[in-house]
Parts: sequence; C-alpha cells; structure tokens
Amino acid sequence: MTSVKSAPAEKAWRSGTAPGALPLLGHVLSLWRDPLGFLASLPAHGDLVEVRLGPSRVYLAAHPELVRQVLLNPRVFDKGGVFDKARQLLGNSLSVSRGEEHRSQRRLIQPAFHSTKIAAYTTAVADDTRTVTDRWQPGETRDIGDAMHALLMRVAARTLFSTGLDEATVEEARQCLRTVSHGIYKRTVAPLGIMEKLPTPGNRAYDHANTRLREIVADMIGRRRSEADHGDLLSTLLRAEHPDTGEKLSEDQVLDQVVTFLVAGSETTASTLAFVFHLLGTLPDVEKRLHAEVDEALGGRTPVYDDLPALPYTRNVITEALRLYPPSWMAMRVAAQDTELGGKAVSEGTMILYSAYALHHNPELFPDPETFDPGRWEGERAGQVQRGALLPFGAGSHKCIGDVLALTETALIVATVAARWRLRPVPGSRLSPEPKATLEPGPLPMICERR
Ligand code: HEM
Repeated sequence: MTSVKSAPAEKAWRSGTAPGALPLLGHVLSLWRDPLGFLASLPAHGDLVEVRLGPSRVYLAAHPELVRQVLLNPRVFDKGGVFDKARQLLGNSLSVSRGEEHRSQRRLIQPAFHSTKIAAYTTAVADDTRTVTDRWQPGETRDIGDAMHALLMRVAARTLFSTGLDEATVEEARQCLRTVSHGIYKRTVAPLGIMEKLPTPGNRAYDHANTRLREIVADMIGRRRSEADHGDLLSTLLRAEHPDTGEKLSEDQVLDQVVTFLVAGSETTASTLAFVFHLLGTLPDVEKRLHAEVDEALGGRTPVYDDLPALPYTRNVITEALRLYPPSWMAMRVAAQDTELGGKAVSEGTMILYSAYALHHNPELFPDPETFDPGRWEGERAGQVQRGALLPFGAGSHKCIGDVLALTETALIVATVAARWRLRPVPGSRLSPEPKATLEPGPLPMICERR
C-alpha cells in the first residue's frame, strides 16, 4: 500500500455500525471480553463507527482526519464522559478540566514542560537507572513491568522533587499509585456507581491509598514552599505565573497537578519501557542494532540529554513500541453542542471515542501492522505515514503535556540499561497486554544477563 500524507480534501466519509450487537447489551460484551481486538476491528466498518453500550450510542472516530477534527476542536468536543470519575483523585486538574478553565491551566503550566527545561529535569535519570540496575544479579529473573514501574517512580519523584523523598516513601507512593490507578479504572468501567460506595476491602484499600498518596505529595509541597528554586518540576510549578493575569497556583491546585503528573506519567512511561525490553529480548536483530548504536554513541559512558541525537535507532525503536502498544489505548470526548462529524449529525452529550490502538493497528495506515518494524520511522518511509495516524500522545489542546519528558526519560533509560544488560524472556512466557487505565504489559518475567 502507498500511503499519502493527508486525506483527500473531498473525502466522502463512510459511517457504519459495529456488527454483533446483542439485545439490551449492545456491544458491551465484545468490548469487555476483548477490548483491543474489538477496537482494532472497527475501522473496517467505517470512518465513523457506531457502537452500542447498553441503551447508549457512542461513536468511534476511526479515520485519522476525523480524530483530528475531534481533538483539534475542544470547544465542540470537550473532555467528559465516564472518565469524569477520575476527578475523585485528580481534582479539577489539567487532564480532567474543561473549556476556559483548562485553557487557563494549560497556559500557566505549559512553560514548566518547555523543551529547554527537560535537560535539567532529566540529569539524574541515567544515574538513578545505574543505581537500580547495579543491584541486578546476572542470571536472576525479574518482572520487567514491575522493575520499570519501580525505576520510573524513582525517576518521577526526582524529576518532580529532585531531593527529599527517601526510597521507602517512593515505594509506598508507588504502591498507592497502583491501587488508586486500578481503582479509578474499575470505577470508570463499572456501569453503576453503587459498588464503589460499599465498605469492601478493595474500596477501603482504594480510599487509604488515595489519602496516603495525597499526604505524601502535600508534605513535599509544604516543605518546598519555603525553600529555594531546585530547578525541578515542583519548583517551576510553585513559581509559575499566568502570562496574562500573573495569577499563581494555590497549594491545593499544585497538589492536584502533581498527583495528575504521577498518575498520567508513571505507568504510561513504565509500560513503554517494559514493552521495549520485551521486544528487544525477542527480536535479536533489533537488539543487535540497538546495542551497536548505544556502544558507539556512548563508549561506556552514562548517557545525558545531549547524547540523544546520536541515538536515532533507539528513538525509532521507542516510537515503534508506542505504535504497537500505545499505553493510552483509548480516550473520549463529549460533544459540547449539536454538531456534525463525518457527515453524521451528532447531538450534544454524545460520546466520541478515539483509540490510538485502533489507528496504529489499521492495515490501511500501517502495512503489516502487527509486525514490529522500527524501519517505518526511517527516512522516506517515515514521510509516507499519514497525518494523524500515529497518536500515542493524542493531539490538540489536551495533547500530553509530558510527551517530550517521557520520550527523553525513556531513551535515557533504554540506553543506560542496554549498555550493560541483555534481558531474555523466560522460556515459555508470553506477552499478553492488559488494557486497563493504561495498556499494561502483564506479567513479563525476564532473565538478566550481563553484556
Ligand atoms: C509514554 C508515556 C506517556 C504517554 C503514552 C502519554 C499519553 C497521553 C495521552 C494520549 C494524553 C491525551 C489523552 C486524551 O486525549 O484524552 C495524555 C495527556 C496527559 N499527559 Fe501524558 N503520556 C505519557 C507520559 C506523561 C508524563 C511523563 C506526564 C507528566 C509528567 C504526562 C502528563 C499528562 C497530562 C497532565 C495530560 C493531560 C493534558 C491535558 O489534558 O491538557 N504524561 N498523555
């Protein structure tokens, strides 16, 4: 297939309906049993595909141009829908706020993620990675998902707070984050809100984890208010001023934003790393080329931000892992007014889904989509990828604010680990990604071998 850079201007949109709706339930069972398979099957039924969730009708924007129309028009398609339940944890922070409130928050916070800040935030990433991986023993087996989550949490704590959090507290915050993130997901997919109000052990663990996580972060913020600028993300947030009004974030707002960064940034980045190491461990040719690049670029040194331009293949491996296994596998918007999409009338309140997984696995957009092929991102081939087809970080006003930070951390960690370790999958183990709040790698035991 020869792909084109953008869709034809006069495209006649195809709308369709997902097959296999059951009476009363619609497609709930298909989505519940095999969410990824179901989503990936939908683009074959149209550019805009109707899905029935019980009595509700929602639409998947399956064509990249329709996804762009949704994401680039936040006044028409805004945040909302079932993901609103995340407000229980995230308050009215960046990832859940809407309209003018969101625009104002984004203008205030965006400078904290400017690319010029990223080098300073990430100075300790490689050293932290060395410290953690120096404890690995040759021949031992580690669950790579868990190992990367623990490492990422340490790195995230340093990026945010630079000093002051001991290892035990970071580990406690990590366990809280896991409980809370899984709890939010369960609450989001639960059709009724009754179960979450019952005093079950699961709900009590969720409430405790939520309270404790916020206590840990609030303690850091309280201590930091009076301290000097540490050049980390928290210092930048505490000093941030709205460009028009000069307004600053209140302590509660900083707390909500920091918890949001931890929730949005740690599992996503950790899963990406786990997928990368799994792929390297199963594809010897890819691993060999990546090792050669890392060895040549670093010559045994620990990498720093300025080394990244010399690691283009490493970057392509990461991009291709994000294509094959996008951590943010599905998201939604809600029509804020009666409107039209893909030639179809859409009434106010209608939920529109977009799925990076469905886009990235569409053979019309990526030939042989199940094959891991970092060469897609090299030279001319990269230029042939259709606009909007690769969307691991979303697009428009709600596009991931941490994208550059995440890509930088990921590249530094991959290069640091790959310079010293080769990770082999335990014979008989199989990757089976689990679509939860993010796409998780599931159990992935790998054997550590020194290079
Ligand atoms: C590989 C890692 C990551 C992936 C794949 C990822 C993906 C995404 C995606 C797809 C969105 C948009 C969701 C939507 O359209 O509704 C998003 C939003 C967001 N991400 Fe990330 N993210 C990653 C890492 C990070 C990091 C490291 C941070 C912060 C430290 C972060 C903070 C956020 C925030 C605050 C939002 C909400 C932005 C807004 O609504 O204005 N993410 N992320």
